[in-house]
Amino acid sequence: MKITVVGAGNVGATCADVLAYREVANEIVLLDIREGFSEGKALDIWQKAPIDLYDSRTVGSTNDYAKTANSDVVVITSGLPRKPGMSRDDLITTNAGIVKSVTENVIKHSPNAIIIVVSNPLDVMTYQAHITSKLPRTKLMGMAGILDTARYRAFLAEALNVSPKDIQAMLLGGHGDTMVPLPRYTTVAGIPVTELIDKDKLHAILERTKVGGGELVKLMGTSAWYAPGSAAAQMVEAIVKDQRRVFPVCVKLEGEYGIKDCYLGVPVILGKNGVEKIIELQLNSEEKALMEASRKAVREVMDVLDKIG
Ligand code: NAI
Ligand code: 2OP
Repeated sequence: MKITVVGAGNVGATCADVLAYREVANEIVLLDIREGFSEGKALDIWQKAPIDLYDSRTVGSTNDYAKTANSDVVVITSGLPRKPGMSRDDLITTNAGIVKSVTENVIKHSPNAIIIVVSNPLDVMTYQAHITSKLPRTKLMGMAGILDTARYRAFLAEALNVSPKDIQAMLLGGHGDTMVPLPRYTTVAGIPVTELIDKDKLHAILERTKVGGGELVKLMGTSAWYAPGSAAAQMVEAIVKDQRRVFPVCVKLEGEYGIKDCYLGVPVILGKNGVEKIIELQLNSEEKALMEASRKAVREVMDVLDKIG
């Protein structure tokens, strides 16, 4: 198995590190446009192998896509991160150009690859990768839901003083403040979370989750990378090992949830063919309204992309 991670910055390098540490593939290529940068990161990860005891080989490449040829899965993390005061949507023009050129190169050298987009604004950059690659939706998806649910689960674990391992949750919608957390589908070892936490506390956690990315941007002056890198690696692992894991993933909706031609997070089964199945939940009227607001917000930014071409 061969995996390429484009962008050797905070998220990309973390993703490659997790992939190597978990021996998800025997060959992991890290590509960046900064001269020598990805080679340095790849070498550093490789030099950690004798300490952490893995044998996945990490290789760097300064914008040479020949080294990525015939990758099975490609993760695209190249692009500007958010800075304080910026929304994810502010990144659109620059990152659309980057995602377009990267996708062209990826497809040229790995025509059979499954692509996972991470660059922001996530839902719209997944759309950009689709416009460029024309890949079917089974093979082109975006990472956001695993990260957003992880934040929600971590906040709940802290509030309830239980292990985060025992918190299961699902979340829908775009990767932005209009995301749709689903307390109805949140459990602690199978126990509905609503039986364990009072309404106000849960509400505060849901609101904190929605702006979870911004909280970290304020603290660090740039966006997060440990949880995002691990989340992308978890998607790669599910595909490479045909695990059929159920995750919230950004995918093009073609009528599911009553929505067409929009990229939004929904629960899917991830396996060797990529998105094996989209799971359609029966939403109540409040959840439907939140999903519609999220669709509108993403559609507006997709329209901006359509306008700038
Ligand atoms: P970073 O600045 O640390 O790394 C980005 C890397 O992309 C840099 O090393 C840069 O040289 C490289 N790059 C730029 N243009 C390129 C090109 N044409 N080809 C190859 N490489 C290129 O940024 P970071 O923190 O790693 O974030 C990366 C992206 O991921 C940002 O757009 C950020 O907003 C997004 N992100 C998305 C998340 C999600 O949940 N979907 C979570 C966290 C970040
Ligand atoms: C995050 O949620 C900014 O999308 C990035 O951390």
